[in-house]
Amino acid sequence: MHNAAFAALGIDAVYLAFDVPPARLEAAVAGCRSLGVRQLAISLPHKERVLALADRVDPDARAIGAANTLTLEGSAFVASNTDWIGLVRALERAGALAGCQAVVLGAGGAARAAVFGLRERGARVVVLNRTVSRAQNLAADLGAERAGPLEALRDIPYDVLVNTTSVGLTRDASPVAAEALRPGTRVLDAVYAGSRTRLLRQAAARGARPIEGKWMLIEQALEQLRLWTGKEAPREVLEAAFDAAT
Ligand code: ATR
Repeated sequence: MHNAAFAALGIDAVYLAFDVPPARLEAAVAGCRSLGVRQLAISLPHKERVLALADRVDPDARAIGAANTLTLEGSAFVASNTDWIGLVRALERAGALAGCQAVVLGAGGAARAAVFGLRERGARVVVLNRTVSRAQNLAADLGAERAGPLEALRDIPYDVLVNTTSVGLTRDASPVAAEALRPGTRVLDAVYAGSRTRLLRQAAARGARPIEGKWMLIEQALEQLRLWTGKEAPREVLEAAFDAAT
């Protein structure tokens, strides 16, 4: 996506992927700083630890407790989080979020970015998770209304549902019962398994609007590009690159 965007914008840059083991993260960031690398996209499992290696941390990355981007400003690496922006923009393709009742499934790093983004946009948020204590901790930390088990979904009159659990990633399963899905709602699955997940298929069948995880990835990449180029890359170029790679 980034390379397609560079070509479209006429920017003389290249995006490369490196597989960095946790024990080499600090050295890898130091090496990139020495080389003058303009931006790093940080992936799992480094998103939390990289905060300590940045010269400055944006307030949103600080609140979420994770960064997915380091951008060179002068000689400083600034850590930011475009995951939550990607998530809210993917949902906003189907309408505003202010005043909505949202439910986030899961309590890991992706859920933290989701709750932060939904709160930032003025939605009310309930966090549901298999392990309820993790949901409670997250809810208290990031200002969600309340927390509960996954089964509680059927009793919540929600407008927006976001799945951040890994259910559906490796097998054709959904974290919630199909009967708990409501017509007229927006359902975003942060899992991108290539084809539509069971959750999204069931959501569509029940009259909800399914939103695929690929839009989060495209929107968060657009935000990364904005951060260091200040330019707006064409969305359709990123989408074509994404589709060609998956
Ligand atoms: P990430 O940081 O990517 O969000 P994570 O911290 O490993 O990843 O979180 C994975 C999420 O998927 C958790 O909410 C996990 O629930 P638990 O907190 O109870 O472990 C959820 N998850 C994983 N497998 C699951 C399953 N089979 N059923 C329900 N939830 C599951």
